[in-house]
This record gives sequence, structure tokens and C-alpha cells, in this order.
Amino acid sequence: MKRIPARTTVTAALPYANGPIHIGHLAGCYLPSDIYVRYLRLRNREVAFICGSDEHGMAITIKAKKEGITPQEVVDRYHHMMGDALRSFGISFDIYSRTSSAKHKEVAQAFFKNLYDKGVFEARETLQYFDPEAQQFLADRTIIGTCPKCHEEDAYGDQCEKCGSTLNPTDLIHPRSTLSGATPEMRPTTNWFLPLDTLAPKIRAYVEQHSDWKPTVYGQCKSWLDSGDGLQPRSMTRDLEWGVPVPLPEAKGKALYVWFDAPLGYITATQELFGDQWEKWWKAEDTDIVHFIGKDNIVFHCIIFPAILMEHGGYQLPAEVPANEFLNLEGRKLSTSKNWAVWLHEYLIDFPGKQDELRYALCATLPEAKDNDFTWADFQNRVNSELVAVLGNFVNRVMVLNHKYYNGTLPALPTVLQNEDKESFQAISTQTRAVEKALEAFRFRDALAEAMQLARVGNKYLADQEPWKKIKTDEVRTAEVMAVATQIVAALGLLLEPFLPFSAAKIRQMMNRPAVDWESLHQGVLLSAGHLVGEPVLLFEKMEEAQMEAQRQKLMYAAVENASNSASKVLISPEKKISPLKNEITFDQFAPLDLRVATVLNAIKVPKADKLLQLTVDTGVDTRTILSGIAEHFSPEEVIGRQVVVLANLAPRTMRGIESQGMILMAENPSTGKLEFVQPGAPLPAGATVS
Ligand code: 2FM
Ligand code: ZN
Repeated sequence: MKRIPARTTVTAALPYANGPIHIGHLAGCYLPSDIYVRYLRLRNREVAFICGSDEHGMAITIKAKKEGITPQEVVDRYHHMMGDALRSFGISFDIYSRTSSAKHKEVAQAFFKNLYDKGVFEARETLQYFDPEAQQFLADRTIIGTCPKCHEEDAYGDQCEKCGSTLNPTDLIHPRSTLSGATPEMRPTTNWFLPLDTLAPKIRAYVEQHSDWKPTVYGQCKSWLDSGDGLQPRSMTRDLEWGVPVPLPEAKGKALYVWFDAPLGYITATQELFGDQWEKWWKAEDTDIVHFIGKDNIVFHCIIFPAILMEHGGYQLPAEVPANEFLNLEGRKLSTSKNWAVWLHEYLIDFPGKQDELRYALCATLPEAKDNDFTWADFQNRVNSELVAVLGNFVNRVMVLNHKYYNGTLPALPTVLQNEDKESFQAISTQTRAVEKALEAFRFRDALAEAMQLARVGNKYLADQEPWKKIKTDEVRTAEVMAVATQIVAALGLLLEPFLPFSAAKIRQMMNRPAVDWESLHQGVLLSAGHLVGEPVLLFEKMEEAQMEAQRQKLMYAAVENASNSASKVLISPEKKISPLKNEITFDQFAPLDLRVATVLNAIKVPKADKLLQLTVDTGVDTRTILSGIAEHFSPEEVIGRQVVVLANLAPRTMRGIESQGMILMAENPSTGKLEFVQPGAPLPAGATVS
């Protein structure tokens, strides 16, 4: 049995303030943390729910540079927008703070100074790229150059997005600064390193005490610890203007590493929330600290942050780190830069008042153990077949019949429960225990399924008992059935509160029973005979196919528009090899070509064929397979969702045993030989003709 702590400090990863919030953020950590916190509050456990914007780091500096504004202007634009979007979805933070505040600077600098004074850091001089025009050192992301592996010309200093290789800036061929375009030069610089190598035994002991963490989390920690080179010293300062200034006179122009200051943002926010009462939330032995994060943050929360806290001393170390894997969208990685996302603020415009529908669909598909996919088809199915058909239908039938038969005055429960009554009634406590067990273990999908099971039980009970028929022959039994069914509705108003807070509140309002007394779920009767229930309110509406199609189209258009906007470089090459004109043809020879815009729905590599991708395209008139010799130029991921031009009436041709039904039009860069898609200048419906 796990101990129940006196209080729990729950944190949700501070999102970078460089763009709006999308469903990947929600599924990664905000929804599960909110469900958990709501549950703890319902159990009357003392809990603080901490979050805020992460306002430092390279991504913000780069965005500011691109837009010609200051990093402060970037974070000011997004901070409120992000907090508001999350709160609109019911994410019930006790505080949503920010790391560009004066208070945070104080906290982060004091932490750094504490470790510095203890001699924890190692000052090291290293050679780093320096931009002689911009007069500053360059972070890995601000250097681009040719990838040594795949020869992509715009690979970043830390990664090539084309071939996925992890790189060091010095690996790049022909490096250039993104700040000025200048060729960077190597210069020595001093930074302060956290000696994770010498701290490794302490970190290992801490991690190994937590072998009960989720296998994905524990496994990742162990592989960092056990990797060939083991843990390596990591610099806690950077040659950067934007960030918390390093509080040392010799460190002018340097800022704290964003992963040093960001987790300390949890502590700053706690201090802002509780004033001089904050310490017990981080230092008391009977406090549990629980970090909800996405899998890319595991090393920072399970290794680096605990190491910082250990070296400072006096702090509790994170007790639980229930990290999630990633959520994909319609088969592709969610991406802010590629605009492949469902943005919360846009969802609220397209589906006003339907926050619970998204909470439900996301919770049911949370990437708890492996990456998972959100699709609009699944969303529609979850809403229509589960929320509308099961939960909404059950609650609505009970409410309507209560009013029709008894003017809303609840009849008495049977004095002797029949077997069916007993089973249905007992499901309240059985399902409550199952929900509790799953939530305590951070199994949110299971917990939701267990809560919904109570609605299924209720629905089945009504369908079996048929009170609408029984009323004609047996009024006494009908009243008993309605009394049992109404107790189940009242229980759902509590049991669903962590998952669907808006709908649970509506149920409690319908039940005229506003109390959120979770413990009553274990005590049996929630409503006594004669209780007057409120008016029926519609909980959920069906999602129509047209609405889902509109969302899919919106996604495609946004991504296509984004791709065409970023393909803005016009290349003029000195060595262009323009091919000569072909023989003249007449209009009558051209006219039979059926050229049309199509959308690529899917793409896979053709096994054992280096050059071929097998594409599934929507031509507006049909969905067909086309083989295209572009595999050396594009990965399947880069192609899905694009609008292309196809020659649709080309006679089919079989290659590698697959029939290709058309041809994708490509343009070849005369100087590099690289293929590019021919695509419409603005998004068009699939099937648009090209002439
Ligand atoms: O990955 C991210 O979005 C980071 N901004 C998370 C920071 S979590 C914490 F340490 F602040
Ligand atoms: Zn590459």
C-alpha cells in the first residue's frame, strides 16, 4: 500500500510561451494532472496545483528574432493566451505563474548562488561558435549548415530535421549563423557545469528507490544512468542575453540554462501562491511532489532537477513523475512549426461549450504507455457512441421520466431490492472503488472507463426494466426502478467530476444536489424519497460527419498554407542546367490530360525500393494509389497532408507488384537535382482541375 501523504504538490510542466496550446499539450500533462488534482480535492486531501509559462529558452529567442520583436513581447503575447486556454478547458490550477517575473529571477539566482557557494559547479572553458557580425555566441539552434549524414542544407546545430540525426554544431558542413548569415568562428567561453558524473551514485540511489515508477519513465532514467558514457557534466549557464542573468560578476552577458531555471519556476509559483506558508509544500517530509510531464522532459525532472535539489539540500525530491508519451494527430506528429495541430482556442470557437467532449476523447486515448493517435473519426465516435448514446441518453431518460411520472419528486427505493436493483445499485460503490484504484495509480484511461461503466450499467438497467412499458401495468415497480436509476445518475454527477467537470456540474444541478461529497459514493443512498430533482438539461449533442470533415480540411489547409509560406526562398543558381524546350504540341494534344489537385492522405515506403513512395491520394473523385519516385527526397511524414497535382488519367502501371494509378507532378531544381512538389498557391478542394 502506498502511503497517503499529508499534502501533495502537483506540478504540470511549464509550457514554453512561444505559441498557443494544442491538444498534444492537453493530453501530455494538463488533462491528467487536472483529473488527478480534482480527485485529490474530492478526497479532501490537501493539494496545490502549480503551473505557469516557461518564458526563457532558445525557442523564444528565435521566434522573437524571426518576428523582429523582443523575447519579452513574445512571452507577453502568449502567457495570458496559454493560461486562459487551459483554464477554459477546466484545468484547475491554483496558480498559473510565469518565469520572466522579478520574483522568479530572485528564486533562481538564489538557488544558483547557493550551489555556487558550496562549490558544486565546475567552471569550464570550452570553444563555441561565435557570430562575429552579431557579436554573440551561438546556441545550437541558431547555427544551421549542411547535414553530414543526408546533406540537407538547413540542418540545425543540434539536429537534422530531415534525417533525424542528433548533431553537434561542429558536425555541420558550412555552418552559418541564423542571426546574421555570417560564418561563425570558434571562441573560448567559460560556463558553469553541474558535475552529473560525480553526482551519479546519489542520483542512481534516488532513481532506484523509485522502481515502481511507470516502466517508460523508470526505463528512460535507467538508460541514461547505464548508457556507455554514463551521466556527463552539463552546463547550467549559457552565453545568452535572454534568461535569468547568472549572478556572478564574471558572467556578464550569460544567462542560466533554461532547464536550470524552469523547474525552479514551480517553487517560485508556490511561494507566490502561499506567501510565507510555502515551505511545507517543498520541504516537509509528509509532502509528496508529483510532476506531470511529457516524455521529452523525463531526464530533466528525474535526474537534473533532483540533482539540483539534492545539492541545495532541505528539499523533498519528486515522489512521482507520471510522464506520458506523445499524442499524434491523424497519423502525424503534432507540430507547432508545421501547423499540424488542433489549437485549443480554435476548438473553443468551432465547438463552443464542448470542452468535456474533447476532455473525454483525449482522456480515453491518453498516450499513457505508448504514443497514441487522435483522429476526428475517433473523436466523433467517442462523442456519439459513448457520451451521447450511453451517458447522455441514460441521464436524459431518467430525468424526462421522473418529470413525466412524478413531476420531479423522487419515489422511494424498494424496501426489498430485487437482484437487478441490487447489482445496479452496488455498481455505484464497485465502480467508485475501481476509479479510485486506477487514479491512485495514474491510470487515467482505465479510470475513465470504470466511471463510464456506471453509466453503462444504468443504461442497461433501464433498457432491461423498461419503466416506460411497466408504467402501464405496474406503477409500484416502475417507481422503484426510477428511484434506483436516479441514484445512479446522482452518483455519476460525482464520479465524473474529475474527468468531465462541466457535465458533472450539470448533472448535479439536474439532481438538485450540488454537494461534491465523494465519500457519499461509498455510503449507498445519495437521494432520499421525496427529493425534488431539477429540470432536464441536454448534456451532449451528436457530432455530424460534416463537422469532422471540416476539421480535417482545416488541418490540411493550415498545413499546406504553412508549407507554402515557409517555402519562400527563391534559388538563383550560377550553374543552372535548364533543359531545352521539347517539341511543340497543339492544344488538342494537351487538353486530354486530366490534371487535378489531390490531397495526399497517406504515404509509406515501398519495401525494397529505395526510390518509391506509395501514396494514397484523394483526387476529389476517388481515393487511389500512386507510386512516386520521390523517396530519396521526401519522407512519408513530409508528404502526408500535402496538396499535389496529379495526372489522373494516365494508364495504370504496375511496379513492384503494386498498381500505380496516375502520376504526381514534380519540379526538379536545375542546380541541385532536388525534386519539389507542384502545388496550388492556396489550398483548394481535392478534385480542382488544372488547365
Ligand atoms: O518542454 C517544455 O515545454 C518545457 N517548457 C517544460 C518545462 S517544465 C519545467 F521544468 F518547468
Ligand atoms: Zn540529415
